[in-house]
Amino acid sequence: MAVIKSTVDTKSDAYRKNFETMSERVGLLKERLSEARETRSEKAKSRLAEQNKLSVRERLYQLLDRNTPFLELGALAAYGQYDGKVHGAGSVMGIGVIHGREVMIHANDPTIKGGTVYPMGVKKTLRCQAIAMENRLPTVYLIDSGGAFLPLQSEIFPDIDDGGRVFYNQAMMSKMGIPQITAVMGLCTAGAAYIPAMSDEVIHVKGTGAIFLGGPPLVKAATGEVVSAEELGGADLHCRKSGVSDYQAENDAQALSMVRESVRQLPRTKKHPLAMEAPKEPLYDPEEIYGITSHALKIPYDVREIIARLVDGSDFHEFKPLYGPTLVCGFAHIYGYPVGILGNNGILFSESALKATQFIQLCDKRGIPLVFLQNINGYIIGKAYEAQGITKDGHKMVNAVATATVPKFTVMVGASFGAGNYGMCGRAYSPRLLWSWPSHEIGVMGGEQAAGVLVTVKNDQLAREGQPPLTDEMVDQIKVPVMEAARKEGDAYYSTSHLWDDGIIDPKDTRTVLALSISAALNAPLRDDKEGYGVFRM
Ligand code: COA
Repeated sequence: MAVIKSTVDTKSDAYRKNFETMSERVGLLKERLSEARETRSEKAKSRLAEQNKLSVRERLYQLLDRNTPFLELGALAAYGQYDGKVHGAGSVMGIGVIHGREVMIHANDPTIKGGTVYPMGVKKTLRCQAIAMENRLPTVYLIDSGGAFLPLQSEIFPDIDDGGRVFYNQAMMSKMGIPQITAVMGLCTAGAAYIPAMSDEVIHVKGTGAIFLGGPPLVKAATGEVVSAEELGGADLHCRKSGVSDYQAENDAQALSMVRESVRQLPRTKKHPLAMEAPKEPLYDPEEIYGITSHALKIPYDVREIIARLVDGSDFHEFKPLYGPTLVCGFAHIYGYPVGILGNNGILFSESALKATQFIQLCDKRGIPLVFLQNINGYIIGKAYEAQGITKDGHKMVNAVATATVPKFTVMVGASFGAGNYGMCGRAYSPRLLWSWPSHEIGVMGGEQAAGVLVTVKNDQLAREGQPPLTDEMVDQIKVPVMEAARKEGDAYYSTSHLWDDGIIDPKDTRTVLALSISAALNAPLRDDKEGYGVFRM
């Protein structure tokens, strides 16, 4: 046993100040989540009731096994974008349990502009499908959508990662053998008609569900034909005549129970077995993380104190503890699942990058999932370090992170700046899931540094031209907007709004969220058959 002995003084002023700051941040997170989940206009709510439809949350409640976790993803997607009311980008997505089986779910929210699809909504659906493909999760779509949000149609239609990709992905998922089941609980208009059409099984609600390439207004405009939505694409037509849908449901509740039945009928697949241990609680209360993470990113703390509150029994077998001390690596278990953890304890030096590379290879060869606790300002810079080859050592770490094929998970616990984002498995390095804490900040570099670079570049240019350097006022004119943009765009809510993560979580839930994430990942083979590395520059 290598139990971490905490040295945190929970009575100290610093602890108290950190605790207060994180508590406020978590309070704000809860407020924003509840606004996104619950605040809807009276008009939208009464329209739902008139149509005898369930709310999207009630639909999920009826769909999922009782008393099982729903790992919601992208809950604050589109936060603050558009008119600030396109909560969750107009849909709910997550990994839930149906008849004991983990399933990826994507459900439109008809109370947000008729469930229409905004640009961030497309991004969210594509993320849903990427997760389903990586983790081989059967996917359920609950469709209730007016299709493209027409005023922004150019931003969601033609590009490689726009609307068409949703149906392309459905074809690829089908080819991969990932079951897709759709419940038509509202409109599936135009492109959206392909969601049911490309699914394996379609359940269609009579009276409210309709599928058509062109809705009644378009048909009237194009051909003069006057036809109701039910006649043009209702359940009776599609279940009895066209064959587009497979099962007819009388109402939402029946449709949801039919989806459950379709999932129950799917052939059972075996999850990848990991060498599990009996789960144990950490020796220290996970809520103490609030008092450990500094109220300001600049103030360092020991990441082992976080690890002690995440892992079973606070038991952490640290790898190379005396070498490359700015990166802490080691083996542990979370709810019994074996994990290899990498956590930042400062800037990345050559030694820390080399240690990371070796550790990632070890975990990859042994089939141990990787967890990155990212709090990084970047790799060390300066003449001596360049001469020592920091770039080629950083490259080895980036190469290993990119090519390791065991499931990777990233938690943005603090800073994420520069190439440190890459080495510590940022979004572009395909962690299966990526979570943020409310304290997270991100950017190519900090705002102060970015502004400083631009001032230096301008002064160098002026010197070349024989001009006097910038005045203080001119310096401010350059610095202020750059720093303001960095502050706004570096914020955790900006990140989550743009789906650079899968959600902001309460730090004390991290252990549970990671365990659920690992569990979902085990539905896919642990490693792909293209295991191996590229060329490491020596
Ligand atoms: N683009 C932009 N806004 C749309 C929209 C679209 N495709 N479809 C609906 N909306 C808006 C409405 O203007 C309304 O906005 P408001 O609340 O600010 O007034 C809101 O969504 C709700 O629409 P409403 O018609 O009042 O609700 P409903 O529940 O009765 O019907 C739909 C919802 C989606 C069935 C219906 O609005 C509809 O048929 N939309 C057009 C669908 C279509 O032809 N889409 C083609 C796009 S590919």
